[in-house]
Amino acid sequence: MKSRIAIPILGLVLLFSAWETCIAQERDYLLYKDPNKPINVRIRDLMSRMTLAEKIGQMTQLDRKVLTADIMKDYGIGSVLSGGGSVPKSQATAREWVDMVNEFQKGALSSRLGIPMIYGIDAVHGHNNVYKATIFPHNVGLGATRDPDLVKRIGAATALEVRATGIPYVFAPCIAVCRDPRWGRCYESYSEDPQIVKQMTEIIPGLQGDIPPHKAGIPYVGGNDKVVACAKHFVGDGGTTKGINENNTVADWHTLLSIHMPGYYHSIIKGVSTIMVSYSSLNGVKMHANHDLVTNFLKGTLKFRGFVISDWQGIDRITSPPHANYTHSVLTGVQAGIDMIMVPLNHTEFIDTLTSLVNNNFIPMTRIDDAVRRILRVKFTMGLFENPLADYRLVNQLGSQAHRDLAREAVRKSLVLLKNGANADDPVLPLPKKASRILVAGSHANNLGYQCGGWTITWQGVEGNNVTLGTTILDAITASVDPSTEVVYSESPTTEFLESNNFSYSIVVVGELPYAETAGDSMNLTISEAGIETMSNVCGKTKCVVVLISGRPLVVQPHLSNIDALVAAWLPGTEGQGVADMLFGDYDFRGKLPRTWFKTVDQLPMNVGDKDYDPLYPFGFGLTTSKVQDQIASR
Ligand code: GLC
Repeated sequence: MKSRIAIPILGLVLLFSAWETCIAQERDYLLYKDPNKPINVRIRDLMSRMTLAEKIGQMTQLDRKVLTADIMKDYGIGSVLSGGGSVPKSQATAREWVDMVNEFQKGALSSRLGIPMIYGIDAVHGHNNVYKATIFPHNVGLGATRDPDLVKRIGAATALEVRATGIPYVFAPCIAVCRDPRWGRCYESYSEDPQIVKQMTEIIPGLQGDIPPHKAGIPYVGGNDKVVACAKHFVGDGGTTKGINENNTVADWHTLLSIHMPGYYHSIIKGVSTIMVSYSSLNGVKMHANHDLVTNFLKGTLKFRGFVISDWQGIDRITSPPHANYTHSVLTGVQAGIDMIMVPLNHTEFIDTLTSLVNNNFIPMTRIDDAVRRILRVKFTMGLFENPLADYRLVNQLGSQAHRDLAREAVRKSLVLLKNGANADDPVLPLPKKASRILVAGSHANNLGYQCGGWTITWQGVEGNNVTLGTTILDAITASVDPSTEVVYSESPTTEFLESNNFSYSIVVVGELPYAETAGDSMNLTISEAGIETMSNVCGKTKCVVVLISGRPLVVQPHLSNIDALVAAWLPGTEGQGVADMLFGDYDFRGKLPRTWFKTVDQLPMNVGDKDYDPLYPFGFGLTTSKVQDQIASR
């Protein structure tokens, strides 16, 4: 009897609890969190729930060093970054990076609407802030390879190493078309030729994934081992007068569209998700205040649908001096069409200023909504709402041997042979691996930091060997020669030392010291003094091969007669073995100049196609070698 009554009651209880669950789910159901809903529907639903404060929070990007999880939660901060060298701790491991990123993310997720933040970093030649990451050749060297597929593979490897540290967003690639090597960022540019820059946008599908044809032209990220990319710096950053960084680019519409814009067309078609605005001005108008180009052209004509991000304190520099009138900076920057502001240090000042401008009707809510819609579109597209927290799944990708092998391949293909003996039938390279005694000399032969250049471990780069994992050019040479060959190293050998030794040949590795941005602006473009002295001493006494480590062409003509062979190695990164592979003929030289090599700086700017074009080595120049190891073994 009891069971007959118990069963219906049990059924009722179960029914009621199921109903309760359903109501609770209904109550807890948030459409914007439903991955089965179309992205536009999710965006619309979320935005309908957002307050102005939450919308402005999404437009705010801050550096990790000024942030706490509480700030993330209280202000609903939309993005965090690591500026150059901004790391959790010195030599932090991938796991420590993941833990740090997740702490900020938990703060963001605990905000009222739980909108995940997106963490960005400059991975401009590999994951360059991070200890033990693979450091690839800087873009100028990749331009010399003329190999878009290689660059795409580098993008894919970089994405894996960035994700290994829990980060889903990189401020790369720089698609500047550097038109004057006096610019301190010229090494961040693939070439003076917009056609090469256009080809190298293949790094974007490497970083983000191959965009499906039917999705061409809209932001795309293909999974959790890919990252959001950022084409930068829009537009004309590489065309400033005398290469003065952040200065003014004078260009008519034809020059702008034919030289500086093609990289953006191709980046957008390939689904680039974000674009960073340039510090520079165009015909006197600051790009960070340029509504016509950022809104009307980039968003209107080119139909860019990702988000536009400012540079570091980029809106502050709208005024001169910077930050002279912050209200004006915020007003003109946001009104120009910038969606996310890399503030990146004083969040309350930015948030309060923008809030006041909106509340006082200086900035319409439609502009705020456009910015937030674009930011949310990228976050939904990349799956950030579904996978906001990182894990340790990819930590072994950081500095993996496969990536180092890829970087070594890139180094090989990037080297450009400019001189090889007095004439073609008396080549100096390839060098014999078997020789009695050889000299390795020069400031850059045994210096991992120097061979990586700027944007490595710190913003301005580092010096020495205890900086990260890699192979110096000296170690690479030592590992390549026959065991019977004695390798003598002297950074700056004296004449006496040279005369008291009988070296079969010398390899002299010299060049520029690391720099980034304005610190690299140079009006004289000379090899460092120490390098010039070493070249003069060594090449005056022995057969010498000079390997130039530089971000750009340098003044070499005065030294050429003394040099038997000259190799442009650019900024090769951690895998110095790639240099030795070429010096000893394991591979043929195939690199071609991505930039005109001038005779004197008085000729600058001088680019391929110019009238009165009179270079030392023209754009596209590069000698080749074939494996003639036997013919020179007797030398
Ligand atoms: C720098 C650079 C930019 C970089 C940003 C964040 O000043 O101009 O290329 O992405 O700040 O580090």
